[in-house]
Parts: sequence; C-alpha cells; structure tokens
Amino acid sequence: MQELGIILLAAGQGTRMKSDLPKVLHSLGGKPLFLHALQTAQRLKPARVAIVIGHGADAVRRAYPSNNVAWITQEQQLGTGHAVLCAKDAFREFKGDILILSGDVPLIQEQTLRMMIERHRGRSAAATLLTAFLDEPKGYGRILRDGPGGITGIIEEKDAAPAQRQIREVNAGVYVASAPFLFTALSEVKNHNQQREYYLPDIVAIGLDQKAPIETVRVDDPREMLGVNTREELAFMEKNLRQSINKKWMLAGVTLKDPETTYIEDGVTIGKDTVIGPNTQLRGSTVIGERCQIDGSAFLTDAQIGDEVQLRFSVVMTGCRVDRGAIIGPFAHLRPGSNLAPNVHIGNFVETKEAKIGEGTKANHLTYLGDVTIGRDSNIGAGTITCNYDGFHKYKTAIGDRVQVGSDTTLVAPISLGDDVYVATASTVRHDIPSGALVYNQREERVREGWTEQKRKKMKGSE
Ligand code: UD1
Ligand code: CA
Repeated sequence: MQELGIILLAAGQGTRMKSDLPKVLHSLGGKPLFLHALQTAQRLKPARVAIVIGHGADAVRRAYPSNNVAWITQEQQLGTGHAVLCAKDAFREFKGDILILSGDVPLIQEQTLRMMIERHRGRSAAATLLTAFLDEPKGYGRILRDGPGGITGIIEEKDAAPAQRQIREVNAGVYVASAPFLFTALSEVKNHNQQREYYLPDIVAIGLDQKAPIETVRVDDPREMLGVNTREELAFMEKNLRQSINKKWMLAGVTLKDPETTYIEDGVTIGKDTVIGPNTQLRGSTVIGERCQIDGSAFLTDAQIGDEVQLRFSVVMTGCRVDRGAIIGPFAHLRPGSNLAPNVHIGNFVETKEAKIGEGTKANHLTYLGDVTIGRDSNIGAGTITCNYDGFHKYKTAIGDRVQVGSDTTLVAPISLGDDVYVATASTVRHDIPSGALVYNQREERVREGWTEQKRKKMKGSE
C-alpha cells in the first residue's frame, strides 16, 4: 500500500478579499476557511501533512495547534507551483503519493478525494487532477483537451485566449501526484506567464511532454470545488454550506420553520422532533436534545440543552447547560457557567451567570442571578438582584431549597439563605439567613389621605 502525503496551500494573501486578515483565516461556517479542507484531508489518515504558510503565518499556525503537521514557510508568494516546491524537504525520501489541496477550496468531500486516489493508483498515473464543468468558469484555470480526448494542459484565465475562455471544464485545484514525479516536474516549471508566477498546473504539460500518464477525475457536484477568492464568493459559500447543514438536520428529523434564516454550525448536534423557529443561530459545540421547541431569534453558543426544553422567543445562551423540560425566555440571557436542572423556568429579562439552579426552581421576571447556587423548587421574585460585585471582587450567593424570594429583593453577597427561607418583598438582605426563617426590612409605611388633590391644587395655583 502506497503512503499518502498531504500538502495544503495556505500562503496567499487573498488579494481579492481586500482584507488585512489572510484569506484562509476568514471564517466559514464558524471556522477558519483552511480548516475545512484540512480536516477533510486528515480523515484520509495521511502519513505526512505539510501546510504551506506565508501571509499571517503565525496567526494561521495558531488556528491549528497540532504537532503532527510540518509548517512550511513560503517567504514570497511566487505561485502555487513554487509553494508546493517549498514543501519538498518535508517529503524527503517519501516515495508515496501526495494529495495537494488549496486552503481556499473548503467544500471538497472525502469521498471525492478517495475516488481520485483510487483512480490515480488504479491507472498508475504520475498525476491525477480533479476537474469540473462550471456554467460560470471565470477565474479558474481551463482544461485543454485534444478534441474529446486526453488532457493536453491547463491554461489560467489570465493567460487564456478568448476562445479558451469559452471552455467550461476547469481545474479544481486538487491534485494527486507521485512524490518523485511531482518534485522533478516542479523543478522545471517556469514563470513565463501573465502573473510571473510558478504555476502548479504546469506540471501537467511537463508530464505530458515526458509521456507520463496524467489522469483527470470529474467531480459530480461542482459546488464542492468552488474556491473562495472574494467576499461575495465567501457569502455564497456560507449560504451553500448552511443549506447543506440544514438539509442534513431536516433529513435527520428536525423541523426548521424557516431554513433560510437558520444558521447551524458544523459542530452542532440536534435531536429529532425538535422544532426550530426563524432567525436562530446555533453555534460552536451546541447540543440540543429531542422534542425541544425553539420559538425563534435564539443565539446559542456552546450550549447543552436536554430533551423537551422550550426556548421561547429571543434567548441568548453561551457556555451553559439546561436540563430536560426547562422553559427559558422570552428575552432571557444565560451566560457562561449557567447550569439549570430539569424543569427550571427562566422568564423574561432574566440574566444568569455562573448560576447553578436546582430542579423546578423559577425566576420568571426581571432578575440577575450571578455567582449563585439555588436549590430546588425555590421561587425568585420579580426584580431580584444578586449583588455579586463590589467593584473589586465577585462574591457568591447560596440559596437553599423551597426558598421564596419576594419581588424587588437585593441579596448582598457573600450571603447564604438556608432551606425554606422566606424573604419579604423589597428586602435588602446582607446577612446569612438560617433555614426556615423569615427576613424582612423594617420600614414604616405612612398614608396621607387626600394628599394628591391638595398637591394638584397647589401646583395649579403656582402656574
Ligand atoms: C488556482 C489554479 C487554477 C484553479 C484554481 C482552483 C494555479 C496557478 N491556478 O487558481 O488553475 O482553477 O486554483 O481553485 O494554481 N498559494 C500559496 N502560495 C502562492 C500562491 C498561492 O500558498 O504563492 C495558495 C493560496 O493561498 C491558495 C491556493 O494556493 O490557498 C490557490 O491560490 P490562488 O491564488 O487562489 O489560485 P487561483 O487563482 O484560484
Ligand atoms: Ca483560489
């Protein structure tokens, strides 16, 4: 069995993006562009992987912290052929096949790569490249053929004659080549072209000159090989990717009320019979259980949600966990470290952070719960605030089981309320309260009958 090596090209600036950020770091589906092709290639279990970097090299490396790849720096971007040649040393004494991918061609499928490798080995080819037929081939290298027959070369858009630009078969920029052939052919590539660049596709003509067998494989779905060169293409691809992810979840039994406005990232998991309303973004490693109901306008990042949870209209959740049967929102904000047991209710304009909330507990209105542990079956009244910050440090609040916190209460942390505590409305609580106690603030209530009428008369007189 031949060994497989991978070279991923990711050194270009991406001039057409008009960006300070290297192109391969622009985000697609929630992760840097180049990681898409790289992760797909890694599934082929290659023996060696080299990534050619240049523009923003340090930032690109940081985006893929791995010890198992060789990072190759291409100081000056002299073209794709030059880029591959820079990786030559990483493949010293390597006699296997090398799969070359571009960091800006993210949707390429594992199956397609496997098919290419199989064809390449089956035909004992020197190089095998992927082609596609595009209705709008603009920008791509065109495949030149001898009538309907074999490939004779590749011509870049910028070097192509008008008639050649009519050709709809394009170079997908994905190649498999035997290592010895690849590096020998590359050493012969010249930069005699419009862009004064060393073109990788020129190995085709060089190979054909040497009577080396060159194979082509046509990709079934041309969308897989689309490259990202402009922001418009990035947006188009984002849309494509989104549609295929949405389709996957719908086929798996998830209802999307409006797939057009549903954004589900790659790393998300959703259980069946969950219904998702419009304008929902599910990001990062979010997991949603079965039979959940998401009304819409939800923005969830790294959230873990159990079965049968209801997210009412407009909730924001980040780095938190919500167990089965909970009801959240409308208009709720669950921040990192929020950990909600089954059947918790969090209502409108409630914010939680580092909040462990026990089963069946409710906080339904206008409340801030931060750095707090709450037991089960407690009720947190409207307008309750855990005062956890004195401008210097954060302090913790502990609330027991079956506690009734009256509306408009401030709990000044650090503080603990035992089980079955009853906090009267409008209390400011500064001391620990033992289980079963009532706490209230002494305040005199005065009533002046007829006061309003007198006041109005007086004000009128002064007009
Ligand atoms: C390339 C092909 C074209 C093909 C198209 C498919 C060449 C000359 N042309 O064109 O035939 O149809 O891909 O998408 O190869 N890169 C480097 N170093 C360099 C130059 C480029 O690492 O010196 C990297 C880029 O970062 C990018 C990839 O190589 O990831 C492709 O380069 P790009 O400039 O986008 O090539 P295209 O013009 O798209
Ligand atoms: Ca490109």
